[in-house]
Amino acid sequence: MALWGGRFSQESSALFKLFNDSLPVDYRLIEEDIVGSIAWATAITSVGILTQQECEQLHAALNELLAEVADKPEAIIASGAEDIHSFVEQSLIAKVGDLGKKLHTGRSRNDQVATDLKLWCRKEGEQSLALLQKLRGALIDLAAREIDAVMPGYTHLQRAQPVLFGHWCLAYVEMFERDISRLEDALKRADTCPLGSGALAGTAYPMDRHAIAESLGFAAPTLNSLDTVSDRDHVIELCSDASISMMHLSRMAEDLIFFNSGEAGFIDLDDEVTSGSSLMPQKKNPDALELIRGKTGRVYGSLMGILTTMKALPLAYNKDMQEDKEGLFDVMDSWSICLEMAALVLSGLQVNRERTLAAAQQGYANSTELADYLVAKGMPFREAHHVVGEVVVVAIGKQTPLEELPLAELKQFSDVIEDDVYACLTIESCLEKREALGGTSILQVKQALAVKQGQ
Ligand code: ARG
Repeated sequence: MALWGGRFSQESSALFKLFNDSLPVDYRLIEEDIVGSIAWATAITSVGILTQQECEQLHAALNELLAEVADKPEAIIASGAEDIHSFVEQSLIAKVGDLGKKLHTGRSRNDQVATDLKLWCRKEGEQSLALLQKLRGALIDLAAREIDAVMPGYTHLQRAQPVLFGHWCLAYVEMFERDISRLEDALKRADTCPLGSGALAGTAYPMDRHAIAESLGFAAPTLNSLDTVSDRDHVIELCSDASISMMHLSRMAEDLIFFNSGEAGFIDLDDEVTSGSSLMPQKKNPDALELIRGKTGRVYGSLMGILTTMKALPLAYNKDMQEDKEGLFDVMDSWSICLEMAALVLSGLQVNRERTLAAAQQGYANSTELADYLVAKGMPFREAHHVVGEVVVVAIGKQTPLEELPLAELKQFSDVIEDDVYACLTIESCLEKREALGGTSILQVKQALAVKQGQ
């Protein structure tokens, strides 16, 4: 039976019920709804609605219900209740009779669902934080394992300058650290308790909302009932933080897909995280990485979905807001599994050092070094850049790397070039020079890694 039947003389149409019911989605809030209900029973006891004994009876029945159904989503859904709040109330009444009918005194599903959802966001957000930390750890381990493998760094997907593989790993550590800090920040802002805000105007019982907030582990109660029941900023922030993090994951996935391509051949992925082709026996496809890249799209989609649902909604609660959960649940599920999968991919990844080094040596990645050499000999950088451009054109024509052009030939471009130029054109020299903070010299990367390992 619906919670609100008194005013109605006709049953809902089957289509309306199907359309309106949210239980098939919000059953996932069972634990939060029961925990919130336990807190609410205590709150209404404090204002004399329940006796202490009744309160204890409700607490016991709610805990019993949780133990019975927490891991039985099918049973919850099969109840046919309108939503998780109706399900809990209905089940409670089935257990304790009329006493169960007192629980909703002074409460609305509007402050109830807001509370449930914030509790859920907190739980899931903390899980994502742990997974982000785990992924950060996997990147740090990989950086330590492959720190000095030399590979080409790219801009415009063209070989630009050599970098250390460890430097590449630590670039993503920076990104995931920003994701961690963004999520921690969002969770701090979501740490306020909606319960006791009623339908929109506040509850009519003079209860201590600080005590309710504390009993549910929130830092403080929310401060405006109209805002409280219509606020879904925490949902949007989680979707947004997940989207940014998925953007990072998808970029890492894309880099690795490219590194794993036959053309690059920089890395080998473990059999555990790749799949074969049903037709072409030679294939080993980077499915895990492609799915991370692919799932990023649907996470963005959910962010756009909730932003658009909330756009221009008048105060306070509107049923539109029931549409907040499906996207959020999918976002948090997708983000979590991608974080876990990325860590697994990294743990089994091998760098093919001969290939990465050979690629770093080709493609004129030491051209900047030649320009810097000319600068050291007194030539203004812009002129040096032009001269080296001319050298590169000739070298490309001859299919020769810069360091293999004879001195006499190099001198034709500038007579300041001497025999010492060759020492500048080695990969080691290119790398060593990048020793200002944040650069890819081995010393810098080792120091950066040590800092990360110590944190
Ligand atoms: N299932 C609803 C939701 O998720 C619960 C709140 C219902 N409130 C109401 N006034 N109809 O939003």
